[in-house]
Order: sequence, then C-alpha cells, then structure tokens
Amino acid sequence: MEKVRIAVLCSGGGTNFQAIYNAWEAGLIPDGEIVLVVCDHAGAFVAERARRAGIPCAVFDRKEIPDRTMREREILDCLKRHDIGLVVFAGFMTILSENFVKAYEGRAINIHPALLPSFGGKGYYGLHVHEAVIRAGVKVTGATVHFVTAECDAGPIIAQKAVEVKEGDTPEALQKRVMREAEWVIFPEAVETVCRQLRQPNT
Ligand code: GAR
Repeated sequence: MEKVRIAVLCSGGGTNFQAIYNAWEAGLIPDGEIVLVVCDHAGAFVAERARRAGIPCAVFDRKEIPDRTMREREILDCLKRHDIGLVVFAGFMTILSENFVKAYEGRAINIHPALLPSFGGKGYYGLHVHEAVIRAGVKVTGATVHFVTAECDAGPIIAQKAVEVKEGDTPEALQKRVMREAEWVIFPEAVETVCRQLRQPNT
C-alpha cells in the first residue's frame, strides 16, 4: 500500500506541525507523507512554516467563512481532493461536528496538552489547560495523543507522556515545558505508529 497521505490541521503557531515535519524529513515517519497543511486562521504563523517547508497550506479563515458548517464542508472537500488518509489535529481550535468526525473515523488524531481524561473537554484548549492545571495544584501534567471521536478529547488514547509541574510555574512556562518535553516527542512518534497501522493493518 502507498504511504499514508497526511494533512496537518492548525490554528496558530504550528510548533507541533514543525516537530512532525522535522521528524518526517529526518526519515522518522517512513509510512506517511505530509502533503497538506490546513489552517482556519489567516495570518497564523503555521502558514509561514508550511511555506518554508514547501508544503501547500489551505486557509479557511474563520472570519471569511464564519459559518462553521460551511467551513467544515469546505475543509472536508479539500481533504478529499487531496486524498488524505490521516488527519492530524495539531492545535486546531475548532470542535468538529459528528459528520466530520465520522468521515475520518480511525484516521484522525489530536494532541491535547494534558494527561487526559484530566483537564480535557470543552473550554480546555491552549493556555487555559495549563491555567487549570496550576489552579488545581497537581504536580504532574503532560500531553496526550488520541483518536478523534464525536466526544471532545475523549477518543482512544494512543500515547501519553508526563511532565513535572514546578513550584511557581506560570501557564506560559508550563506550556513551553509540556511542548518541549512531551508534545514534540510523542506526536511525531504517534503519527508514525498510526500510519504504520493504517498501511499494514495486520502487523
Ligand atoms: C499545543 O499545545 C496543543 O497541544 C494545543 O494547542 C497548542 C498548539 O500549539 N491544543 C489544544 O489545546 C487542543 N485542545 P502549536 O500551534 O504551536 O502546535
């Protein structure tokens, strides 16, 4: 079977896209091929990262296409046109409809900046997650890669890595540590794991 065609969906800075791209370039994702970046925010830095990497970036701006259903439909059409086999949500800040989720069941994965099922679900995204972690006083947090299902942040877990919460951490400092020590490590590995399974389902 051909390599799995990967689309990475992002809304912002795209450091996770960068980590996945770097791993792919280094030959660490041999079962996949990154062919597309999708962004829902015009001006997001991930578009510049994609340009530098030579990967086409399709923008479906939230302000230009405010209707979520219409935006989703356009994104889905785009993914189909590019014959995408794995959708990778890397900081994509829109909760998706069941219709979208069904179309890529078992072929869509997401990264969440905490140890799910803690600190997940609606309202838990980006810095808000780290604020909640600090507020709760837990000593360990981390990151989770999971399959995307209709229930937000509740799909089967593929990989997790724990990170220490330090005394006096700000949400920003904690976010950086979680990215560096967990997200950028487990996400590229999980992408390869899923690509390999999709490509050779019986191994
Ligand atoms: C990452 O920390 C990712 O885990 C988080 O957004 C950030 C995106 O950063 N995702 C969520 O909170 C999803 N609920 P990036 O654009 O630099 O990869």
